[in-house]
Amino acid sequence: MEVKEAILQRKSIRNYKDTPVPEEKLRNVLEAARMAPSGANRQPWKFVVVRDGEKRVLLSDASGGQAQVAAAPVVIAAVTTAPDNMMMCEVPGYPVDLAIAVDHMTLAAVDEGLGTCWIGAFSQDKAREILGIPNNCKIVALLTLGYPDDPGRPKTRKSLDEIVCYETYK
Ligand SMILES: Cc1cc2nc3c(=O)[nH]c(=O)nc-3n(C[C@H](O)[C@H](O)[C@H](O)COP(=O)(O)O)c2cc1C
Repeated sequence: MEVKEAILQRKSIRNYKDTPVPEEKLRNVLEAARMAPSGANRQPWKFVVVRDGEKRVLLSDASGGQAQVAAAPVVIAAVTTAPDNMMMCEVPGYPVDLAIAVDHMTLAAVDEGLGTCWIGAFSQDKAREILGIPNNCKIVALLTLGYPDDPGRPKTRKSLDEIVCYETYK
């Protein structure tokens, strides 16, 4: 699949079929994260793959009851191992590194015929406890993964004119 096609096709999927995700497809999605770039190639990440139904229900509770977290056959917690890293540009490095890895996974999932939804609305403390995340690490995102049971919502985006300017900020 062309990158452009995957970018256009990717939508947040909040309804999933019961069908399990085949091991090879899951591996291809995780491989896309592994290949993502990161500052100084530090790869400051761990990906916790959650398939256990009870854990997914607990994670759903920790996400304000978001049903897709329990319904998706797989939830991947994207965890940074370097939550204190600050880049020279005064921007924390870890959300950038982890966002790129998660986005790689969302696009690879499309290529595998799978859907994803980035979950940012979750309790760090609760999710940390459920997954046994050590204190020196932080969960940046939960990513639901599975076969879509609906096509997702239409994409609504600002126009290029609204978001792009040239040479100076306008
Ligand atoms: C950082 C981030 C956090 C998000 N958190 C949630 C969330 O907790 N629950 C949810 O249903 N969608 C969440 N989303 C999905 C966005 O709502 C979605 O990407 C946006 O509405 C655009 O829709 P699209 O992904 O279908 O293009 C999140 C997306 C991002 C990038």
